[in-house]
Amino acid sequence: MTTLAASKRPAAVSSEELLNPCWAEVTDLREEIDSTFTVWLKFKDPALQKGYAFEPGQFNMLYLPGYGEAAISICSDPEKRDAIGHTVRAVGNVTRAIGRMKKGDEIGLRGPFGTHWPIEQLEGRDILLAAGGIGLPPLRPAVYHILHNRAKYGKVILLYGARSPSDLLYTNEFEAWRKSDIDVQVTVDRADDTWKGQVGVVPLLFYRFRLDPAKTAVMTCGPEIMIRFVVFEALARRIPADRIYVSLERNMKCGQGFCGHCQLGPFFVCKDGPVFPYSVIEPYFGVEEF
Ligand SMILES: Cc1cc2nc3c(=O)[nH]c(=O)nc-3n(C[C@H](O)[C@H](O)[C@H](O)COP(=O)(O)OP(=O)(O)OC[C@H]3O[C@@H](n4cnc5c(N)ncnc54)[C@H](O)[C@@H]3O)c2cc1C
Ligand code: FES
Repeated sequence: MTTLAASKRPAAVSSEELLNPCWAEVTDLREEIDSTFTVWLKFKDPALQKGYAFEPGQFNMLYLPGYGEAAISICSDPEKRDAIGHTVRAVGNVTRAIGRMKKGDEIGLRGPFGTHWPIEQLEGRDILLAAGGIGLPPLRPAVYHILHNRAKYGKVILLYGARSPSDLLYTNEFEAWRKSDIDVQVTVDRADDTWKGQVGVVPLLFYRFRLDPAKTAVMTCGPEIMIRFVVFEALARRIPADRIYVSLERNMKCGQGFCGHCQLGPFFVCKDGPVFPYSVIEPYFGVEEF
């Protein structure tokens, strides 16, 4: 059983330093949708900022003294190195406090952590990305990578769903993605008077196109129930389980495989994940006690 390889990029800080947050400054914070915002961070130390690189699908631990720390995926373009973007849904102590920050405020940042979408390995293939709700931010760096290297991939389809039209993220970018030959298909669970698109859950979109199982790789992130049905539809179309990649969420503390908080069977989601080939986690996926 092999998980994905760790990032080949050199880290800006040593692994020892990765236990202590480095200080970054908020350069921008904007609301995306209700209770969800994107915060842009830049290390106070210019050398750290210059050396910081991440792979699509990796995450940072964001730390606010007096509130705590939360794992947040990096949602920005890996090629743009001047600031690091995180789209955050305000659900608890840390995320609500981050949402109250202002430009110039300081926050602790550890990372990048975890495995990544094996997007470079998948050159030459058709790519299906499937995201639900706040599952799109961890996939967006992979979209940017594809956009920078569009000719290296075959057909690229993005399926994205949210509860309602007002819960859809990054809608102002979809037109540009479509112009670069990404087939962006959007659906909502509940339409409103303005909505003219698809209604229904993400896995239902699979019935709208044909996939070549010999060529296609799937990457999916979102609520576990959505992931389960996306995997079901992909397997039903004979896409092999080792070419279906899923990103999982678990409670995290250290982010580095030391504390055991994020254990899933024999794996630590922070270190062996969050991106796993489905073939590797299939026995543990969706099992309550794990
Ligand atoms: C690898 C990884 C990447 C992540 N990336 C992101 C990201 O890009 N953006 C982001 O917003 N979050 C992301 N998360 C989730 C985030 O780390 C958690 O939601 C975290 O618990 C928030 O900390 P908190 O202190 O604000 O809330 P907590 O105090 O930990 O939680 C408060 C309450 O909210 C509930 N809750 C926790 N998470 C969610 C959720 N996702 N939806 C609804 N209710 C929830 C909890 O059950 C609890 O009752 C990621 C998690 C992991 C493991
Ligand atoms: S968060 Fe500590 S082992 Fe994963």
